[in-house]
Amino acid sequence: MSTSKNIFASKMGAVLAAAGSAVGLGNVWRFPTETGANGGAAFILIYVLCMLLLGVPIMVTEFAIGRHGGSDVPTAFEKMSGGKKGWRWMGLIPVVSGFLVLSYYAVVAGWTLYYTYEALLDGFSGKTPQEFTTDFATFSSDSLQPVFWMTLTVALTCGIVALGVQKGIERGSKIMMPLLFLFILVLVGCSLSLPNAHLGLEFLFRPDFSKVNGSVILSAMGQAFFSLSVGLGCLCTYACYFRRDVDLMKDGLSVASIDTLVALFSGLIIFPAVYSIPGLQPDAGPSLVFVTLPNVFQQVFGGMPVLAYIFSLMFYLLLVMAALTSSISMLEMSAAYFHTNLRMPRPLAAVLVSVVCMLLGTFCSWSFGDWAEVKIFGLNCFDLFDFLVAKFIMPIGGMLMCIFLGWVVDEQVLRAELTNGGTLRSPLYSAYRFIIRYIAPLCIFLIFANELGLFGFLK
Ligand code: PHE
Repeated sequence: MSTSKNIFASKMGAVLAAAGSAVGLGNVWRFPTETGANGGAAFILIYVLCMLLLGVPIMVTEFAIGRHGGSDVPTAFEKMSGGKKGWRWMGLIPVVSGFLVLSYYAVVAGWTLYYTYEALLDGFSGKTPQEFTTDFATFSSDSLQPVFWMTLTVALTCGIVALGVQKGIERGSKIMMPLLFLFILVLVGCSLSLPNAHLGLEFLFRPDFSKVNGSVILSAMGQAFFSLSVGLGCLCTYACYFRRDVDLMKDGLSVASIDTLVALFSGLIIFPAVYSIPGLQPDAGPSLVFVTLPNVFQQVFGGMPVLAYIFSLMFYLLLVMAALTSSISMLEMSAAYFHTNLRMPRPLAAVLVSVVCMLLGTFCSWSFGDWAEVKIFGLNCFDLFDFLVAKFIMPIGGMLMCIFLGWVVDEQVLRAELTNGGTLRSPLYSAYRFIIRYIAPLCIFLIFANELGLFGFLK
């Protein structure tokens, strides 16, 4: 059973912790990268549709399973199924995924930590856009530096997870999330004032459906899942710590709205900035954010170096915090299993998972340098992990959870969980149940079937 310490102390803490997991580099770094690579506005429309039809219902599904169990994820599946031990294996999805996702996420989080350090030392001042481009390429392909920053990121994450649910996860999210929103808004203002900003807006908001094919749809679905942290059982892990009076549907919608807004605002920061830098293209890939962002500050506050310094530093600090609130949730997925199921002390569980992630993370980091040509199924280690997590495990995990809750679990149990024992009205309940029974599993199946070439369209 959960002890009082193993539960978020407030309803607000629960929303912020879930939002902290959702909002991260997926919004600020992966969303612009994917949008750029998949043609802009049309991709965004499909992404928003995937959020509404798949992401939010699966998030609520994870919340319901986790909170009903209240202790740990395997037990949650067993309890929700009405005591059938056979469902416990689903609780292993988060354990394995936790390792995979943190290993490559920490590489990019490490880059943000390094950029914070650079900002602190005033390393950006007076640099040209071209210098930012070459600096990033040199740094990310180095065999030692990014590995050092990745290791540091995992160590910081480990420290917070070791502190526990209330002191570590909840307190961290409560401080970091509001500050992040404030800063993002300021930055949107800065970016929109750059020359050629309107070209960025056009890229973001004028859809060109001729660019849509099967892989764009798969990418949009992957981005929706990744951004909301759904399908891996991460939110299921957090929901084990939710109080009984949390309104799961309302919270799911709040978290998804916050997450989508942050992603769209990040687009509003990055793309106007891309078009203000001669020679930079929106499909520049993972380097996009690390080249455009430092440049925005230099251009906007060119005549006022102090302001450029303060803004750069604060922004990177917040980016690090956003990355940390997400990486904490990743580490928690695996560590919670070792802590609760194998009875390992929490700090030891956190350290064990961290060490493995540091090792795997080193291989992912080398994908940008020495190991760029080491490929499995045509992908380097970093891209392979990203593909496995976002475009495979998350959608399949999400589909399995929907089938579990929609078809296996007793309807009364589900209804009671989502209406808090009948005390909430939950007007969207019927629509939700219809989606998890029919729409979500079918959509995910069709997207995969199409990708495997079972249909002749949308290639
Ligand atoms: N949603 C997080 C982000 O946008 C990433 C994440 C994925 C977190 C999976 C937890 C689990 O950065």
